[in-house]
Amino acid sequence: MTILVTGGAGFIGANFVLSCLRAGEEPVVNLDKLTYAGNLGSLAAASANPRHLFVKGDICDLELVSDLLRQHAVRAIVHFAAESHVDRSIRGPEDFIRTNITGTFRLLEATRSYVATLPAAAREAFRFVNVSTDEVFGSLGPDAIPFDETSGYFPNSPYSASKAAGDHLVRSYFHTYGLPVITTHCSNNYGPFQFPEKLIPLVILRGQKGESLPVYGDGMNVRDWLYVEDHCEALRAVLAGGKPGATYNIGGDCEKANLDVVHEVCALLDELHPLPGEKAHRELVRFVADRPGHDRRYAIDAGKIRRELGWRPAEDFRSGIRKTVVWYLQNQDWVNDVSSGEYRNWLATNYGSGVDAQ
Ligand code: NAD
Ligand code: TYD
Repeated sequence: MTILVTGGAGFIGANFVLSCLRAGEEPVVNLDKLTYAGNLGSLAAASANPRHLFVKGDICDLELVSDLLRQHAVRAIVHFAAESHVDRSIRGPEDFIRTNITGTFRLLEATRSYVATLPAAAREAFRFVNVSTDEVFGSLGPDAIPFDETSGYFPNSPYSASKAAGDHLVRSYFHTYGLPVITTHCSNNYGPFQFPEKLIPLVILRGQKGESLPVYGDGMNVRDWLYVEDHCEALRAVLAGGKPGATYNIGGDCEKANLDVVHEVCALLDELHPLPGEKAHRELVRFVADRPGHDRRYAIDAGKIRRELGWRPAEDFRSGIRKTVVWYLQNQDWVNDVSSGEYRNWLATNYGSGVDAQ
């Protein structure tokens, strides 16, 4: 029996594949299109592992997905593949519609046909875990209670709207066809292998080089932060014990304003990679034009997954962010690999003259 992971060359997917292989469990088939966000370098530790099969391909390719499901007798799918960056969705939503909606739909269709061919026990045991985000719930006021599994959907960006549409399709396949799906809603992840268009790796990489650190608006937007390996553990708990048709919220109980996150990274860089002339990294902060429609606050109530599946995060922000900064400083080859043309083009497109180019 095999797990099919989609998007396993991306940030969370690669961490998930590596953690499954480390745990010494069943084989993993890893289907990834290798967009700008996918990187085989993140899977170097798995390259010689006979339990890992990488397949370059698109989740929109129904025939390919159907073949993989059959050929490898897949017993579960963990679906990460997505266009995932809010700012890119604002500049060009089309790819988000294609992958996050059509791609999820095709994956569901292929799975529905495949599961129908399984014997009853295998059909019963099959799982489709849909990895979604807290962003589908919209923006919270400063005193509002955190999102739980009963929160309504109020997506505000093309990214979160496309994820919400995918979630609704997933839900409908449970209610209409009895497909054993589970959707998870996680908060902001950080850790190794995250593409440096996202806040934390962007600040580490630019800070390390003494370049300006772009903070949107007043820097007071709040996110909940979870170390990526804790998210992977939560997904493994959901795969093992989650109830079909259910949803689970996953978070780090760690709300922070963006400016505080940036300052914490700066303090670690001051310690681990000081700038010449004792200049503090936080002097590099530049407030730049805000993201249109920027959600003010996300917060997660992860009580259900704690109570029902016994999951809780192993890292707090202090330990997780130190590991993350150390990882980026020590993995310059990976960093150089991903800081290629596509990354530089993105900086020029998104920030224009708001930050100095690399
Ligand atoms: P990512 O952008 O780093 O990786 C996405 C991966 O999907 C890449 O490897 C890319 O090549 C692949 N991909 C894109 N389109 C594809 C397609 N059509 N077919 C096959 N592969 C394709 O994303 P991530 O940060 O690792 O996020 C993974 C999932 O987790 C996403 O669904 C995202 O919505 C969700 N999520 C992310 C976060 C976060 O903080 N990063 C938080 C909550 C949920
Ligand atoms: P990001 O990492 O893009 O994740 P998301 O938008 O999914 O939460 O951004 C995290 C927060 O940091 C978000 O409030 C936007 C902000 N941000 C900046 O202030 N500057 C930046 O250059 C980036 C990329 C993000």
